[in-house]
Amino acid sequence: AGVGPADHAAAGTLAAAFAAYEAARRRSVESLQRAAQASLQWFEDTERYFRLEPVQFGFSLLTRSLRISHENLRERDPAFVDRMDRWVARQAEVQAGLTIAENEAAQGIDRAAADRSPPPPLFTPFRLRDLVLVNRVGVSAMCQYSADDGTVDDWHLVNLGSRAIGGAGLVMAEMTAVGREGRISPGCAGIYADGHVGAWRRLVGFVKRFTSARVGIQLGHAGRKGSTRLDWEGPNEPLEEGAWPIVSASPIGYFEHSPVPAELDEAGMEALIAEFERSTEMAVEAGFDMVEIHMAHGYLLASFLSPLTNQRSDRYGGTLENRLRFPLRVVDAVRSLWPDDRPLSVRLSAVDWWPGGNEPADAVEMARALKAHGCDIVDVSTGQTVPFQQPRYGRQFQTPFADRIRHEVGIATMAVGNISSFEDVNGIIAAGRADLCLMARAHLWDPYWTRHAAYALGYPLPWPSQYETLDNYTPRFGSAAGAYGPDTGDE
Ligand SMILES: Cc1cc2nc3c(=O)[nH]c(=O)nc-3n(C[C@H](O)[C@H](O)[C@H](O)COP(=O)(O)O)c2cc1C
Repeated sequence: AGVGPADHAAAGTLAAAFAAYEAARRRSVESLQRAAQASLQWFEDTERYFRLEPVQFGFSLLTRSLRISHENLRERDPAFVDRMDRWVARQAEVQAGLTIAENEAAQGIDRAAADRSPPPPLFTPFRLRDLVLVNRVGVSAMCQYSADDGTVDDWHLVNLGSRAIGGAGLVMAEMTAVGREGRISPGCAGIYADGHVGAWRRLVGFVKRFTSARVGIQLGHAGRKGSTRLDWEGPNEPLEEGAWPIVSASPIGYFEHSPVPAELDEAGMEALIAEFERSTEMAVEAGFDMVEIHMAHGYLLASFLSPLTNQRSDRYGGTLENRLRFPLRVVDAVRSLWPDDRPLSVRLSAVDWWPGGNEPADAVEMARALKAHGCDIVDVSTGQTVPFQQPRYGRQFQTPFADRIRHEVGIATMAVGNISSFEDVNGIIAAGRADLCLMARAHLWDPYWTRHAAYALGYPLPWPSQYETLDNYTPRFGSAAGAYGPDTGDE
């Protein structure tokens, strides 16, 4: 944004000119500095990438600032990007155990005979145990606060169903409570009562019958962040009426004005494990393809992991090994009932964004322990542990943590957080920063995100038969630069 002489004249004083300059320039300078920092960090961590094949090492190096995209590189050196994409496709064939041609045929993709181009990295398959996803895009778990005593309904069916029609390879159902008192709010989804299996089965059945997406469920317990209002009535604000008792690793309220949770005791732990077990069995019955245990964002299991919320002096507090003890018991319980051929994921907060909290190096150790306990993929988020956190937002701001865990632990990761363009996804997959990319808000904005990415990339993903006419339709949405809404600094 320019600050012209007229602005200075209008402002009159030097001080006002500096203030105007500051207001106009700070955001882009900070963005540039974040890019420089990401680049610097790459060089600090170069050893991490030594084992990459030269072509991927080169791609990772060139895109290290997270600002030079796959498409930018294509403009500069199409042959290099073509070589990169062929390499990614070949790796995906080996990893997924099926050919690109087979993966494309399964989606009804009909290539022209002469078309030998590799699929964009986003459109390569990925396997976790016996689950094969058709592409690398996932809809991140998003609470809808629209359930009745945990029972999901038409809103959830249409919400996830339309995003599955939209082409994402994986759709994650929202955080789903393992018990009534494990809900965040009275509107949160659950899988603990009669009727819940049937309600979920309807949704899962729709997705699998009509789309090529696969469906995961995120099991969780809200801990000290439970018994709160619907998000749009005040995030994390305690319920005034109809509140229920809350538990956490230690008796520390979320806000000063939040109720103080009871410290979870051994009997409470046993009861909670039994809830996770029941919910796992129900999730199997409902037909979910993947289960994810929510250990992030300050909820119950996360409250054990972070020293900011865990001040116990028993064997569940103190060292990281102790803080992991109860969450790992939950993983063992879920894994033992979850079918061997289906993958288990865990969502972690890789950093607490507050001094004394978990740091990325702790997350690496957590991921290592999770892997040893049968976790197949880590869903790498951050923060939301304490309300006074100081996160450093920015484009793909959590992706470096997914990259670090993937390389240092040797476990598959999902990157999430301010990933929004197909260029972001192609870049993350090609560089090997993560195996899957989850997007939350981008999918609220555009349920058909993946189909629109295919269109923009010239990838021949067909529309469902019901919408077949669109295969010969040219969208003209309008060209007005419609910038509205708050300036979120998401640069
Ligand atoms: C409406 C909404 C609901 C969310 N609910 C959940 C949830 O149930 N579980 C969870 O782990 N994260 C939840 N999140 C966080 C997202 O999954 C995601 O990590 C975050 O929005 C960052 O991704 P984005 O930049 O693509 O939006 C939610 C986010 C939004 C916007």
